[in-house]
Amino acid sequence: MANRAYNFNAGPAALPLEVLENAQKQFVEYGDSGMSLMEMSHRGAIYEKVHYETETLLRELLAIPEGYKVLFVQGGASTQFAMIPLNLLRAGTTAAYVATGSWATKAIEEAKLFGEVAIAASSEADSYKRIPSAEELKVPGNAAYVHLTSNETIEGTQWSDYPDTGSVPLIGDMSSDILCRPIDVSKFGLIYAGAQKNLGPSGVTIVIIREDLIAKPEGAVPTMLRYATHAKADSLYNTPPTFAIYMAGEVLKWVKANGGANGMEARNREKANLLYDTIDSSGGFYRGFAEAGSRSIMNVTFRLATEELEKQFAKESEAQGFVGLKGHRSVGGLRASIYNAVPPENVQALVGFMRDFQSRNG
Ligand SMILES: Cc1ncc(COP(=O)(O)O)c(C=O)c1O
Repeated sequence: MANRAYNFNAGPAALPLEVLENAQKQFVEYGDSGMSLMEMSHRGAIYEKVHYETETLLRELLAIPEGYKVLFVQGGASTQFAMIPLNLLRAGTTAAYVATGSWATKAIEEAKLFGEVAIAASSEADSYKRIPSAEELKVPGNAAYVHLTSNETIEGTQWSDYPDTGSVPLIGDMSSDILCRPIDVSKFGLIYAGAQKNLGPSGVTIVIIREDLIAKPEGAVPTMLRYATHAKADSLYNTPPTFAIYMAGEVLKWVKANGGANGMEARNREKANLLYDTIDSSGGFYRGFAEAGSRSIMNVTFRLATEELEKQFAKESEAQGFVGLKGHRSVGGLRASIYNAVPPENVQALVGFMRDFQSRNG
């Protein structure tokens, strides 16, 4: 493809070109079935194979241990903000959250609709430029779980080591960094992620849940909002988003062919280092938003001396084929989202643009 943009969108985001091209070939007729996958019953053998293969690949690539269920649900990660307290909070227990930025705050506000919420640690006083240390964490004795946001997509911060919460289940929102590196799933009671950054198109949300947490919730919880409903039916209780799950499977095949979680980490660190080195060696022309120890390898956030200059950067970069570099409207500045599928060459091109922009405006 001649004019493929340098896509730095925060989500939905870049997908591997090979995956798109292969999906295009299979789009009208899947195999020799006489129809598109999108036209098939989710109860048929062809779709079921895709469904279980996607799950198996995810289990393999994330090294998900026995004793965890993998669910494909809908409603985005935002619906998980409600499902988690609805399913896991009990009378007399508290939901503990680590307040690290915009997405953690949304999860906290949603949980407050359903019960008692405690802030186990917060970096609000530091404008969410950093991830709190494990020592800062204060978990109430009656905590039902501790929730953290593995990667704050908007601020550009990321946990490097997850805290040990002992017998209290740890829950991770990994919407913007799932499979960007190997993780120890056994540290978590529940992991969730909207697919539209590292795993595929929007439309499916992955939930990895330890089986002992799939209990009947207290009170009246709608059938579709119970983990037990989806776990019991292998995510086939109702019609799943078949095309999104198929695409996630294709992306996972690409991840596997490119070195799995370790391969993704090497690729992502190379890209992130290129950008952070450019920022740090700019003599203050570019200023990274996140503190050094909390920098994300998925969303690189930075500022320029004035908003005027930031606007100019966004405008000129767009004219040169770079997409999605304007920071989120809530925090301003600039942001390059460099998820798994973003090719290192695109980051090299961006670094070239950044140096050129500085030479003209520094
Ligand atoms: C860390 C994080 N959590 C949650 C969400 C919300 O996801 P969704 O749009 O799938 O509800 C996003 C979306 O960008 C995100 O980045």
